[in-house]
Amino acid sequence: MAGLLGKDARVGVGIVGLGDISSTYIRNLTTRFNEDIHVVGGTDVDAHRVDVALKKFDLFGYRDLFEMLADPRVEMVLNLTNPLSHAAVSEAAVAAGKHVYSEKPLTVDYEDACRLLEQAQKAGVLVGCAPDTFLGDGLQTCRRTIDAGEIGDPIAATAFMVCHGHESWHPSPAFFYRRGAGPMMDMGPYYLTALVSLMGPIRRVTGFEQKTFPTRTITSQPLVGDTIDVEIPTHVSAILEFVRGAIATVVMSFDVWAAQVPHLEIYGTAGSLSLPDPNTFGGPVSVQLANARAWRPIDVIGSAQDDSRGLGIADLALAVRSGATPRASGELACHVLEAMHGIHASSMNGRVYVMQTRCLLPPPARDMT
Ligand SMILES: NC(=O)c1ccc[n+]([C@@H]2O[C@H](COP(=O)([O-])OP(=O)(O)OC[C@H]3O[C@@H](n4cnc5c(N)ncnc54)[C@H](O)[C@@H]3O)[C@@H](O)[C@H]2O)c1
Repeated sequence: MAGLLGKDARVGVGIVGLGDISSTYIRNLTTRFNEDIHVVGGTDVDAHRVDVALKKFDLFGYRDLFEMLADPRVEMVLNLTNPLSHAAVSEAAVAAGKHVYSEKPLTVDYEDACRLLEQAQKAGVLVGCAPDTFLGDGLQTCRRTIDAGEIGDPIAATAFMVCHGHESWHPSPAFFYRRGAGPMMDMGPYYLTALVSLMGPIRRVTGFEQKTFPTRTITSQPLVGDTIDVEIPTHVSAILEFVRGAIATVVMSFDVWAAQVPHLEIYGTAGSLSLPDPNTFGGPVSVQLANARAWRPIDVIGSAQDDSRGLGIADLALAVRSGATPRASGELACHVLEAMHGIHASSMNGRVYVMQTRCLLPPPARDMT
């Protein structure tokens, strides 16, 4: 499907942070989403990365963030920096009157996220945040199945992301073991955002966490053999209670060598739903209803099944032009961030954390690809 805005109305985007994930965004935004978004250029604190990324895609390279923010063609900033830079970069963009779409987590500290949203509201600009995988056809099929009442009322869910960390594939994996990352802050947003987008906001959380290995050895190129000091918990178990009453069991771990647990399942009064990996856009999806003997696959239909990263920022661009509420919104990301901090707080103080924020259930996605 062609984009909804068209060449004359599309939103000009400047990218900050030209590391590992930037080429996926640039590729998708300059091809399948180029009727909604015009990538003007990008910048990075590492000038070499600007040269490499922008030569590859023939885009304009800014000397720094401030030169980019001064360019009136840039209406929206795509923040692809490391988590610890998210708050400063997004705040600078908002202060310059730009809309912002950030990679997850929205910020590292919850207070920074609340301040960013307040500043954006005052400035009259929109904030959106990854992940946007919940807008893919796989999780949207789950949304339709739940909304149609097929599994009855959701009463419980399980979410498992268990692996042995990202040092086997990422070119510069140290940040995954620093504040603002770890299995919960890095991967938790996919799972918690999926659950909130399907079952509504969270009321209370509890958590336990541990740091199992004090160091990690990188096995990916180019830093193979280097050691990373681990600063944050790498195994987190949590319980979430949703406002509508369902209870989810969540395990996020970078400490597990092998496991056979499902990514996500939602259990309802009339049956169970098996969900896809929420770090992907497609299926598989299946249900097993009360008294049935086997899981029944549900067809996943649509054009947002393969790597559709960019759905969220394209939806934000439409919201900028139409006044609609963005789906992958700052409010949703702030709610998820608060839950992750609440889990950490609960682990530290042994008490249940009561959520302060609420977010609306995002409307089902439209086909944007
Ligand atoms: N790599 C992936 O597969 C992946 C997938 C999904 C989401 N993400 C998210 O995307 C973000 C970036 O991840 P990555 O893997 O590309 O990291 P990366 O380390 O490869 O790249 C980050 C880039 O940001 C630059 N940078 C940092 N602070 C900056 C600042 N203040 N101003 C300008 N540039 C700055 C760094 O120099 C680096 O080039 C993270 O939030 C991560 O959680 C990554």
